[in-house]
Amino acid sequence: MSVITCVAPVNIAVIKYWGKRNEELILPLNDSISATLNVEYMRAKTTVMASPTFKENKIWLNGKEESFENPRLQHCMKELKQRARKNTDVVNWNIHVCSENNFPTAAGLASSAAGYACFVYAIAQLYGVEGDITAIARRGSGSACRSIYGGWVQWHVGKSDDGSDSFATQIAGVSHWPEMRILTLVVNSSRKKCSSTDGMRRSIATSSLLKYRVDHVVKDRVEGIIRAIKEKDFKAFAEITMKDSNQFHAICSDTYPPLSYVNEVSRRIIELIHAYNELRGTTKVAYTFDAGPNACLYLLEEDVPEVVALIQYVFPSDTERVEYFKGLPINPGS
Ligand code: DP6
Repeated sequence: MSVITCVAPVNIAVIKYWGKRNEELILPLNDSISATLNVEYMRAKTTVMASPTFKENKIWLNGKEESFENPRLQHCMKELKQRARKNTDVVNWNIHVCSENNFPTAAGLASSAAGYACFVYAIAQLYGVEGDITAIARRGSGSACRSIYGGWVQWHVGKSDDGSDSFATQIAGVSHWPEMRILTLVVNSSRKKCSSTDGMRRSIATSSLLKYRVDHVVKDRVEGIIRAIKEKDFKAFAEITMKDSNQFHAICSDTYPPLSYVNEVSRRIIELIHAYNELRGTTKVAYTFDAGPNACLYLLEEDVPEVVALIQYVFPSDTERVEYFKGLPINPGS
């Protein structure tokens, strides 16, 4: 019997991935960029056991048994087996997988990203896979490829039809911008009504704004935010982050029938952050929202106490929890 346990944190995109050019291979329409949270806070933890006596593959997610026949799992397993170290028996054994998240699942908080990154990383360790595994994690859930690395990460759109150049790389490591902090405001922890996968499919079919974004907007934003991260220019970083989140949700409204992930509390958070930045005379905080109403705020350490106090004062009951995540990253498995 062989056993391995790994953890992988969630990542929060500042340039969003929304739309695939190939559904089966999970190839995106544009580059995306994120920061990976510190592994102590929001993470998936996965244990994989392999044994010659197991009769079949099995998987439990948060204590509930799920089907191993899920095509995305199967794609990851196939690629992992192809890349396994030669002469290892483990590849021929069945596995039992137990995975749990320490935060709400499918609430627009990147749970699938952490889950698949962890699954792929753990099995890669078990099979002795060498080299890049981000493109394998991508087959599980697009955004999962970014959780393989800590720090600031870019998922490259790639050009080839087989997806071989659509992988993630690190822009800068954990220690590059040590003052950066992320606050997660859990507005609603229930499951989202429309999954990211279904939502982006509908946007591709119906939103002309999505096409405009891909053709005319994202490239400059990617260049601009990489520059801002490298130069630690918070103002430029924050403005691009907020504009990209707003454009993503504008695409959701432009989708037909529309997707509405943000709610009234989310909109009040947006107003509050803009009012706060205006009061401070410069951009101190950036918000970003994924496919759900929960806000992620990027800010510098020195501003955390004031912003936490402000949020708690303005949203004493609307916000389920105000969680303060101390900082960025650590690779899964470490
Ligand atoms: C809004 O990676 O969950 O969080 O590839 O279909 O599994 P699939 O989608 P997923 O989409 C994430 C969308 C997003 C933006 C982002 O993380 O870049």
